Amino acid sequence: MKVLVTGGAGYIGSHTVVELLNADHEVVVLDNHCNSSQTALERVARIATDARRQTPQLLAIEGDIRDRLLLDQLFTKHQFDSVVHISGLKAVSESVAQPLAYYENNVAGTITLCQAMQAAGVLNLVFSSSATVYGEPPEMPIREDFPTGVPINPYGRSKLMVEQMLQDLARSDPHWSIALLRYFNPAGAHASGLIGEDPQGIPNNLVPYISQVTIGQRDKLSVFGGDYPTADGTGVRDFIHVVDLALGHLAALGWMQQNRGIGIWNLGTGRGFSVLEVVRAFEQASGRPVPYTIVERRTGDIAACWADASRAERELGWKAVRGLEEMMADTWRWQSMNPLGYGQAR
Ligand code: NAD
Ligand code: WQD
Repeated sequence: MKVLVTGGAGYIGSHTVVELLNADHEVVVLDNHCNSSQTALERVARIATDARRQTPQLLAIEGDIRDRLLLDQLFTKHQFDSVVHISGLKAVSESVAQPLAYYENNVAGTITLCQAMQAAGVLNLVFSSSATVYGEPPEMPIREDFPTGVPINPYGRSKLMVEQMLQDLARSDPHWSIALLRYFNPAGAHASGLIGEDPQGIPNNLVPYISQVTIGQRDKLSVFGGDYPTADGTGVRDFIHVVDLALGHLAALGWMQQNRGIGIWNLGTGRGFSVLEVVRAFEQASGRPVPYTIVERRTGDIAACWADASRAERELGWKAVRGLEEMMADTWRWQSMNPLGYGQAR
């Protein structure tokens, strides 16, 4: 299969491209590198070359999904079977400060991409959505048939808007095949230690923050809230290994070979871990202490969130198999082998 991956140089994209190449697919990456480095793709190529003992079929294009001319050229030059649309802006607080940038990139960018796909007759699309579209769900675990909530920030709303737009698109033309993948909390890194999450500035998310504390780049972790109605009072999330998540995209591509219309799948493990459980797991994996203090809750956080992942297992034959220990060990390997992430290359 020949697949266009938008945002393929980013955290989730790079891991997805590795798995696509390992499965012998041909990949073209379109990334504007607003939050990634070309180095990530060089390492992806290295991992795939080592795994297959031959040069992988990977082409990297530096460009923007909002550039319709470029998209038309790409679709003319390559006969894509499918598009895996991972690119986007993802920082919640930044989206509050710069809502237009988020709607422009995430919503308008997806419209431009879909218009180009439609014009080229490429009608298979996998979209990176998020558990954030559920808002504050009434109960756990979260099933795909729960009503979407009211995301409280522009980032979340941009994801929900795109989901709704893609549902309308699938209804308008039965030839489309669309997979909405609602990721829970991606963590971990490739087992080689060559690729991983490389946040710019202060990490927004828990695992990269802990990782930077452990390597000595930050003093201590602030645990946001110790009085939630959870077993130890700290927030609970469904952390999913990024390689399992990547494999979920391949499962969705498989579904699209057999089915038309639109499908929605949670990509999670079905199990929640608290912030303090993650801290302990990281200490175990790294053999180092993770100093922390418990501070006020972070605005907008919910107490607990984990997936019912059974639909993906039933319909896609996909299941997350890597546990918390492996996620933390792989994160630590990536962090210790690359203390500055992709470093100078960015
Ligand atoms: P990331 O920032 O590492 O990767 C996104 C990539 O998209 C980057 O390489 C960036 O340079 C590229 N990009 C951004 N705008 C672009 C544009 N207009 N044209 C071309 N390339 C562009 O983020 P990630 O963590 O890999 O997330 C990937 C996707 O998954 C995003 O859509 C995000 O909203 C979604 N998601 C992420 C998480 C998470 O916690 N990481 C959770 C749920 C959903
Ligand atoms: C996890 C837990 C925090 C940092 C966010 C987005 C969501 C999705 C994934 C894209 C919470 C606690 C965190 C810290 C802490 N992204 N925490 N100290 O909030 O579940 O989801 O990323 O779609 O849209 O909202 O993930 O990693 O930020 O937080 O105590 O320094 O860790 O309060 O309980 P979250 P997270």
